[in-house]
Amino acid sequence: MSENNPAAELERRRANARLGGGQDRIDRQHRDGKLTARERVEFLLDEGSFEELDPFMRHRCRDFGMDEQVFDGDGFVTGYGQIHGRPVYVFGQDFTVLGGSLSESNALKICKVMDMAMKNGAPLIGLNDSGGARIQEGVVSLAGYADIFLRNTLASGVVPQISAILGPCAGGAVYSPALTDFIFMVDGTSHMFVTGPEVIRTVTHEEVSKEELGGGQTHNATSGVAHFLAENDKDCLRQIRRLLTFLPQNNRDETPRQPNSDPVDRMDPALDSVVPAESNQPYDIKDIIHRIVDNGDFFEVHERYARNIVVGFARMDGQSIGIVANQPAVLAGCLDINSSVKAARFVRFCDAFGIPILTLEDVPGFLPGTEQEFGGIIRHGAKLLYAYAEATVPKITVITRKAYGGAYCVMGSKHLRTDINLAYPTAEIAVMGAEGAVNIVYRNEITNASNPQELRDRKIQDFKQKFANPFVAAERGYIDDVILPRETRPKVIRALKMLENKVDLNPRKKHGNIPL
Ligand code: HXC
Repeated sequence: MSENNPAAELERRRANARLGGGQDRIDRQHRDGKLTARERVEFLLDEGSFEELDPFMRHRCRDFGMDEQVFDGDGFVTGYGQIHGRPVYVFGQDFTVLGGSLSESNALKICKVMDMAMKNGAPLIGLNDSGGARIQEGVVSLAGYADIFLRNTLASGVVPQISAILGPCAGGAVYSPALTDFIFMVDGTSHMFVTGPEVIRTVTHEEVSKEELGGGQTHNATSGVAHFLAENDKDCLRQIRRLLTFLPQNNRDETPRQPNSDPVDRMDPALDSVVPAESNQPYDIKDIIHRIVDNGDFFEVHERYARNIVVGFARMDGQSIGIVANQPAVLAGCLDINSSVKAARFVRFCDAFGIPILTLEDVPGFLPGTEQEFGGIIRHGAKLLYAYAEATVPKITVITRKAYGGAYCVMGSKHLRTDINLAYPTAEIAVMGAEGAVNIVYRNEITNASNPQELRDRKIQDFKQKFANPFVAAERGYIDDVILPRETRPKVIRALKMLENKVDLNPRKKHGNIPL
């Protein structure tokens, strides 16, 4: 250290840390369309709010020539700052330093901010761009990842954890994000895999590109590992900032409220004609969502995955809510394996963080077929049932059309402790559709009839009249009220207000055994 000028020495060291793996590698990162770790952290946080921790930490490995490759900060940028004026903790992996690989030292850095996030009850955001455990360090880097996995698990349901995948991520760099609540990817520049294309070629002789194997489209639309897809780094970081506006700081915090300019008593006559008169005609459930929430603002989660169910965040009279809605425009809105798991995870997130759940229901039942049965629809469908049943946050369900069979029970029915259950006059609440029911119940009668077709049609009409309406359920109190579609917004807002101080508890237990 320069004894004469400690300030200059500090500045020299800081500049060194800022340079990461060097200008050439920074240029390569930019050429690849990516920001550096430091640029990302600064763009993510409110301007000037970032306080870095451990910029001078170095790795201690002396094997495989690592004594020649020592960098201040060791390629990880960690610290705290603010987003929309609220504290958050953040770490960013710097791909310019040894491929953002995780050393013993930077595991310590990450664990430090994770512990602080837990102690101080603030969200944790990980900006991942890493080749996983640093190969040269062997088991100590694996130990570092396991320390992180433990903290991810303990923090689950205590503070929101958000991961962005901003480069080629492998090994531990994908398992830590997998333990967090939401994963963002960037189209074209981010990849996630446990083993890359080369290993796959060697082991299974499959030829697959990096993009096809673990690109943003793959994990958003096919595997469902990722929840959001961004155009580039900046778009991704902006989306994270937006997501946080809907979330509390921790599981003891109030659900965030924002000033609301959209009238709470706004009726929308156009809603009366969104659900088609013909019960087998599709419509887009998002047309209803956009018309009932504050200013039509809906932040969809898992938009590209299992599109037969829609989940996401919105506000009603300024209060954050989670919406789960069957989508009649895709697979008639039926429940299958992927949609059950997608919705179950979302319901559990909302419940863990005290965010009320609004369910819009139009579901003809579970998707039949060997593919679904062999794939374990029984177990996966049960996840959604379990999630709704255990949720103690305010729950409101609106049946817009079909509520058939087991799916009636699952989708926030009264019997699963839903607080307010409403139905449109077009609601059809039955064990199954009229055609299917008549085929089973009157099979013998129809087969033996002189005019089977005439009898069948008559029985279907009878069945529709008796069951294809909301009043049978309303007579029993399973439906609290039948409302006009135009009344949805004011009715839901009133219910949310009424439920503001709801307290409901589950029996004491270590934890339940959700059918995984
Ligand atoms: C040390 C690494 C590294 C790693 C990359 N680098 N990964 N150094 N440990 N894990 C270094 C490279 O040697 C290279 O250094 C620089 O980072 C950039 O890497 P490239 O390969 O040139 O970049 P790219 O072509 O973009 O490929 C990126 C990549 C690839 C797909 C991530 O590097 C890769 O496959 N890395 C190994 C992935 C892996 O198997 N990790 C271990 C996982 S085990 P130079 O100096 O040449 O520029 C794990 C256990 C956790 O994480 C437990 C899970 C449950």
